[in-house]
Amino acid sequence: MERIFSGVQPTGNLHLGNYLGAIRNWVRLQEDYECLFCVVDLHAVTVWQDPVELKASTRHVCAAMLAAGIDAKRNIIFNQSQVSGHAELAWIFNCVARLGWLNRMTQFKEKAGKNKENASVGLYAYPNLMAADILLYKGTHVPVGEDQKQHLELARDIAIKFNNDFGVDFFPVVEPLIFGAATRVMSLRDGTAKMSKSDPSELSRIAMTDDADAIAKKIRKAKTDPDALPGSEKEFAGRPEAANLMGIYAALADIEVAEVLTRFGGKQFSDFKQELADLAVEKLAPMQGEMRRLMDDTAHVDAVLADGVARARAIAGPILAEVHDIVGFLRS
Ligand code: TYM
Repeated sequence: MERIFSGVQPTGNLHLGNYLGAIRNWVRLQEDYECLFCVVDLHAVTVWQDPVELKASTRHVCAAMLAAGIDAKRNIIFNQSQVSGHAELAWIFNCVARLGWLNRMTQFKEKAGKNKENASVGLYAYPNLMAADILLYKGTHVPVGEDQKQHLELARDIAIKFNNDFGVDFFPVVEPLIFGAATRVMSLRDGTAKMSKSDPSELSRIAMTDDADAIAKKIRKAKTDPDALPGSEKEFAGRPEAANLMGIYAALADIEVAEVLTRFGGKQFSDFKQELADLAVEKLAPMQGEMRRLMDDTAHVDAVLADGVARARAIAGPILAEVHDIVGFLRS
């Protein structure tokens, strides 16, 4: 049976990268798969979170999923910490995964930076929790942006090693689903850096809550180079900002990058930016309106999460019980 699992961290405002790289793809996949979409609050606390803000961000992410078009009746939307199986299975995976595997994780190196000794143990073990998220439901397919690819390879290694160690064919080997024209959206201020929630500059990203004026301003101020727009992918070499903006256009318009190159190649950035801003506002504004409405309807958002938690627990419970049997934990 095919089952999708994916997650987003409730840390600050969601941005265009989260939307184009992940959430929009989820909306498309929900027609064909049984899906669980998780607000991963246990992952969030691997770095310090203000408790009041964390609660607000959890609701914010749930509202964003709903506003983007995820159907909470057909799919399961829930927050991770309420299903205790995530933490339990992550512990077992802490004992399956090898230190050498985690030492290779580039995201830990980026996030911990030079001050590795002072990073939390949770930040280091984070990919094991991610594997547990997916495998607690025997998830088979995981739609994510490009930056999560290495973590999913680790989840595959964990599933394979668990099955081998215990001589079972229990966990599926997960397949990443990384697709669309914007699998890696870059910062608007630096085409070589990923668009991210942690960038100190608000101008680096378009937030899912930005209004039309903010979107237009950020695109107008986006870094570019002095040349006219490239007309072929080869000309993207050494021009990461042009590649990024044209990729964003393609993703928002739902067309191939090649078509964007044909349409705008040789034109000035100023004209292109105006068209990109108009397109971004047209595509994002309705969602943002809905999101603001949902953010004021806390009762509805909480009810969606409560319903999702109950349904997630019902799937996870029997799978975790089997894991206990396989590992040899006595049950009374
Ligand atoms: P997070 O919260 O950083 O990002 C959520 C999703 O957005 C994608 N994404 C991007 N895509 C394109 N361009 C970008 N600039 C960009 N920035 C973020 C991410 O790839 C992701 O799909 N560890 C995960 C959350 C997680 C998870 C899981 C995902 C926890 N457990 C199990 C899948 C399955 C994370 O921190 O995503």
